[in-house]
Amino acid sequence: MDSLIIGAGGFVGSYLIQELMSAGKSVGATKLPHESIRIGGCEVFDLDLAKENDIRLLLQTHRPAQIYHLAAQSSVAVSWKDPELTVDVNIKGVLHLLEAIRSVEDYYPRILLVGSGEEYGYLRHGACPISETEALHPGNLYAVTKACQNMIGSVYARAYGMAIVMVRAFNHIGVGQSPQFVAADFALQIAEMEAGFRDPVMKVGNLAAKRDFSDVRDVVRAYALLMEKGRAGETYNVGSGHAVSIQELLDMLLEQSTQSITVQQDPDRMRPSDVPVIEADVTKLREDTGWSADYTLEETLRTMLNHNRRNFGVPVK
Ligand code: GDD
Repeated sequence: MDSLIIGAGGFVGSYLIQELMSAGKSVGATKLPHESIRIGGCEVFDLDLAKENDIRLLLQTHRPAQIYHLAAQSSVAVSWKDPELTVDVNIKGVLHLLEAIRSVEDYYPRILLVGSGEEYGYLRHGACPISETEALHPGNLYAVTKACQNMIGSVYARAYGMAIVMVRAFNHIGVGQSPQFVAADFALQIAEMEAGFRDPVMKVGNLAAKRDFSDVRDVVRAYALLMEKGRAGETYNVGSGHAVSIQELLDMLLEQSTQSITVQQDPDRMRPSDVPVIEADVTKLREDTGWSADYTLEETLRTMLNHNRRNFGVPVK
């Protein structure tokens, strides 16, 4: 097996499977028992990262040359509500994976650990766009667990000579993303309004925050390039390099609809604390891999909105 994706049952997993298979790789994908992966041509395994022995058995049998670690509790909002789950999945999960790899004899795969732009958190004035050397000041439990994963990865790379590349991925969006996340949520609300399933009142949280959005297809291409060309023990930002406010993102979506929509703040969508700006400096990614984005934010939002419209039988625009 060329590539194993741990935690492929989520939003990003199916895009990464397709990216790797189209490059001719033989791909294995793990998922939780209740999840499903409907892409033909890859081998699918049920795996719970809480069970280190199961990971070891899988690795011993298939000895993948590359391991992509996507498995995570990936929602900042959920981490406020369930900090323990977030710690268990995001910190213990990576420990179990790295220890399982170490326990397999004569086995030296390349490993990509996917962290988050949220790790940087509350920045000093003038730090944006944020480079990988910036100090971390995480602003929520999710970000703490991802910063911890990054540190665990660099300790294992240095101490045991493991070929681990760490990523800090900024916001990525696309068709199939859960409406837990802002762009998917807003695109779904608009399509529901156009279909007549919902009053034309858009529920929103904090519109002042600025985030760096990329198309998930650009992001998985960056992961595949970093797996091949990233330097072991190093961390790479993956983002667009340009932050927009959530208000601007909302305006881009509203401009794509002919409905007259009013906007209403929903207190349940506000977080106890929300980092004001997160914007990536992607110079290192570009220089080491030659990566650049293929999709604009407007294109990606249109694709998401039109996908929902098709699901509801509303004409696409
Ligand atoms: N979810 C949501 N829903 N967020 C809203 C809403 C809303 O109705 N209104 C405003 N927001 C704001 C949030 O407060 C936050 O500032 C921003 O929109 C983005 O929120 P999310 O889309 O939920 O993503 P996130 O930034 O918390 O986390 C995502 O990006 C990280 C990288 O920066 C996730 O994809 C993480 O897994 C990822 O690591």
